[in-house]
Amino acid sequence: MNVLRFADLIAQGRVAGRRVFIRADLNVPLDDAGRITEDTRIRASLPAIRMALDAGAAVMVTSHLGRPTEGTLRPEDSLAPVAARLGELLGREVPLVRDWVDGVQVAPGRAVLLENCRVNKGEKRNDPALARKMAGLCDVFVHDAFGTAHRAEASTYGIAEHAPLACAGPLLAAEIDALTKALAQPRRPLLAIVAGSKVSTKLTILKSLAAKVDGLIVGGGIANTFMLAAGLKIGKSLAEADLVGEAKAVIDAMAARGAEVPIPSDVVVAKTFAADAPATVKRADAVADDDMILDIGPETAATLATRLEAAGTIVWNGPVGVFEFDAFAKGTETIARAIARSPAFSIAGGGDTLAAIAKYGIDKDVGYISTGGGAFLEVLEGKTLPAFEVLARRAAG
Ligand code: 3PG
Repeated sequence: MNVLRFADLIAQGRVAGRRVFIRADLNVPLDDAGRITEDTRIRASLPAIRMALDAGAAVMVTSHLGRPTEGTLRPEDSLAPVAARLGELLGREVPLVRDWVDGVQVAPGRAVLLENCRVNKGEKRNDPALARKMAGLCDVFVHDAFGTAHRAEASTYGIAEHAPLACAGPLLAAEIDALTKALAQPRRPLLAIVAGSKVSTKLTILKSLAAKVDGLIVGGGIANTFMLAAGLKIGKSLAEADLVGEAKAVIDAMAARGAEVPIPSDVVVAKTFAADAPATVKRADAVADDDMILDIGPETAATLATRLEAAGTIVWNGPVGVFEFDAFAKGTETIARAIARSPAFSIAGGGDTLAAIAKYGIDKDVGYISTGGGAFLEVLEGKTLPAFEVLARRAAG
């Protein structure tokens, strides 16, 4: 994808002394006392801010936090905890500016954090007047908020249309590069793992990937629906019987291309959904009426691991079993370790997938871990994200 990149603008000397507006995604989880419980997104946003400071820019950073009502700033909507954490990580004070749309004072070599951009009236609906005002604050707009790249809001889209220069920050650029490598120009075979509780929430992804990938590994409740489509009994397992036809269509579309949706040959079942429920391995065609499938079986996991180790590219979204319960985690662990061992380029995204990566400590062995939730899923659906579209349009002139 052809977009201007912040690193290139810096190398061309177009950033020193200029006003740089960075849209980051600092939408981090907070506990009831307003403390940050997980700061990955703040840390992932540091390179852009450091680059801008090192280049001698006057730096403004903003983000949304949660989904506040426009026009009011409740204490829990404030980016104050984020400003404090950002200051700690950067080793310098980062003042928080409250009302900033009509003007911001910041000197070159300094950074300020602009309060939650979603409290500005018109932000969500990408009001053109608001977007123009924001664009007027800067010489260079840096979009570095991949987690919000699927939203066309004033601070993510409208500002990019009107700012003198609009470019991708290092985080957004890294996400674009990894997604291009995985989906647009993949080394084959390309395998995707799409797992989760429901086919309905991932149907568009399954259909889109069915046209691209060489193998589509399904897991969780999604796999149960595919087992039904393959004529297997799944007892009282979670599934969507009304989507069996859609699952069959995905299997057929893949088969027509000489590709495959591997159906489990064995499964791990329990009689109840509980961490201490006794786990039993069964053949996939021997599931009883009162069984619940909570993981793929060891034979299936081993077969999939062999395929993953021979893949050229792997896209991973979703654990294949109830990995929060140790008795039903072996399938996901086997898959995770196979991805870690595989020489394939791998990209992973989604909250549960990141939790599995953390559980098995394989973060260094995954090619790229996306910071996007909804944005990552929309790319898998085959959509062009608004952020990519507007930056590419600006780069084209
Ligand atoms: C996220 O948490 O996925 C992003 O920050 C986007 O948030 P949103 O769904 O409120 O736009």
